[in-house]
Amino acid sequence: MLTKIQSFLPEGHLWQNQIIWYDEITSTNDVAKDLIHQGAPHGTVLIADRQSGGRGRMGRSFVSPAGQGVYMSVILRFPNTPEQLMHLTCAAAVAACDAVEAVTGLRPGIKWTNDLVYGGRKLAGILTELVIAPTQTAAVIGIGINCAQAQADFPEDIRSFAGSLSMVCGKSTDRARLAAALIEAFSKMAQSIGEKQAILDTYRRDCVTVGKAVSVVRGDTLRHGTAVGIDDEGALLVEFSDGCKEAVNAGEVSVRGMYGYCP
Ligand code: BTN
Repeated sequence: MLTKIQSFLPEGHLWQNQIIWYDEITSTNDVAKDLIHQGAPHGTVLIADRQSGGRGRMGRSFVSPAGQGVYMSVILRFPNTPEQLMHLTCAAAVAACDAVEAVTGLRPGIKWTNDLVYGGRKLAGILTELVIAPTQTAAVIGIGINCAQAQADFPEDIRSFAGSLSMVCGKSTDRARLAAALIEAFSKMAQSIGEKQAILDTYRRDCVTVGKAVSVVRGDTLRHGTAVGIDDEGALLVEFSDGCKEAVNAGEVSVRGMYGYCP
């Protein structure tokens, strides 16, 4: 599989010899964070056929069965502070859409903050984690894309909103080709991370959450409103039913109840 992924990359791609393939792993994000501490370079890519402990946002698990998806983490090192990288999560989602579109011809939407969705179904999730040091910020961009599952293959608790590329495209997707497209898209994204406004423009165009009714859960409080925009840090602007408008940050809250899909 590793050789196949490498063969789909453009000749001489800088990350070509930095890809690590695992038949099985706990979580590519967890191992990537260990590798950051051991000095792994920018552009190290971990890909697994199966994860036994795949993780999602807000402490959720990410079901990662063998042969069915692409489970990948990329290590990026930036000379920037975390505050200068607030749009990294948006940039990762846009890059992932580019890769899926390049391989399947279908461009997913983005459910804020960074789920890839199509036809009301979640095709992919992204988990971005930072490791902060005095002179640089290292990031792990972890992405899981459901490729081959039929609806019945998903666990019952996520079956009503989970989807796969084969469900929405009507044909199978070559996982090695998709992995290579992701590597290309993430490497371009890392190079152009300074182009914040262009990244946010594309993110706003692809984001399907804006204009939708949302419920924001913060601790024990549940408030209802409408998503009205994305600010320059990637936060969701929500106008609540009491007329207050607030910027809602990823990680701080869970946003529920859009287009019948309720993660
Ligand atoms: C989410 O849906 O909340 C994010 C899911 C992220 C899953 C990917 S799969 C590869 C990487 N390793 C993990 O443990 N998580 C991410």
